[in-house]
Amino acid sequence: MNLLPLRETALSVARLKLTNFRSYASVDIAVRAAPVVLAGPNGAGKTNLLDAISLLSPGRGLRGARLSEHTRRGPSAMSEALWAVAATVTRAGESYEIGTGLVSAQGSERRQVRLNGAAASSSADLGDVVQMLWLTPAMDRLFIESASGRRKFLDRLVLGFDAGHARAATRYETAMRERARLLKYGPRDPAWLDGLEAEMAEAGLAMAAARRETAARLNRALEERTGAFPQATLSLDNDDTEDDKTGDTLKERLARARIRDAEAGRTTVGPHLVDLAVRHTAKRADARECSTGEQKALLISIVLADARELARARGGLCPLLLLDEIAAHLDVVRRAALFDEIADLGTQAWMTGTDIAMFAPLKGRAQLFEVADSFPRPISE
Ligand SMILES: Nc1ncnc2c1ncn2[C@@H]1O[C@H](COP(=O)(O)OP(=O)(O)OP(=O)(O)O)[C@@H](O)[C@H]1O
Ligand SMILES: [Mg+2]
Repeated sequence: MNLLPLRETALSVARLKLTNFRSYASVDIAVRAAPVVLAGPNGAGKTNLLDAISLLSPGRGLRGARLSEHTRRGPSAMSEALWAVAATVTRAGESYEIGTGLVSAQGSERRQVRLNGAAASSSADLGDVVQMLWLTPAMDRLFIESASGRRKFLDRLVLGFDAGHARAATRYETAMRERARLLKYGPRDPAWLDGLEAEMAEAGLAMAAARRETAARLNRALEERTGAFPQATLSLDNDDTEDDKTGDTLKERLARARIRDAEAGRTTVGPHLVDLAVRHTAKRADARECSTGEQKALLISIVLADARELARARGGLCPLLLLDEIAAHLDVVRRAALFDEIADLGTQAWMTGTDIAMFAPLKGRAQLFEVADSFPRPISE
């Protein structure tokens, strides 16, 4: 089978090796630079494979699981019970060896990251090599569940454009925790609180500005979109840093909120309360009022717009897409449109589904793996 090659600049996984990772004792697969379909029954190990790939980027991956949860359970698990994911990734014609895993050292477990044979200082180093976006079935409820999920989603979008966003968020949260501790246990030293609130205001304003910038950028990209996926409009709710423009600064509002925050046992102003609001542009409806399929389509629109924007910002380098159970909820027209758009993006999208027939329009454009009992077998056409 001759697959259309991806662009030279494309980012793709060429080889993926899992050891002791969830349901996989050991697996080693070679992949071509083309979209990938993983089809198989429930429990076959499809999501586990995507989860492993997602750990090649900074953070906890698409399940957001604790690192120890990835360790394979069961009678044949190694006694040290640690896991490893290794991959060869090609990017702009260059090849990178990436490894990550959980190792046990002096009685404690820690994550190890290696890049081209050398220890990388943190998983964040991987972010320079591998960018990826994902959609999972858990995200189908993004618009109707709590604001924290939407904030996390928004912050991941921001991080794609602004690596400093993570630092600002950490600074903000550290100062916020320290302030909360002082308000609860004392001493309520005004100079100390002033210092922490100044830190929160500075980091918080940077965070809020980066979020607004990303939302505006994605709105421009979403406006350009046509086709089967609906246009979406993003905005930020509870963005009280906007008030800084009218002279009532976050620092002043934090200072005024001290007594109230001490009584409430939480911080009642600041960008940690921001929510991402998404509207279905044409229907003039809030995403949470849309049908399940429409909500999925809105999310796909946002992710595809983001993928294009990221590619534009990185000289054409499109992020990997991990699309778990992507065909669920999409009608036949939307499914075909999604596959066309993935082909047009020229990225290695990894898609999973229980029914291989759903991926028929991808014939000749993707490589198919049938996954059964945690064994992915390439299917030749
Ligand atoms: N740490 C672990 N050790 C051993 N097995 C695990 C571990 N974590 C998950 N599993 C098992 O891995 C199997 C495959 O899970 P996975 O989520 O990859 O399935 P899937 O193919 O995506 O199925 P579905 O179509 O239902 O989403 C499941 O049976 C699950 O219980
Ligand atoms: Mg799954």
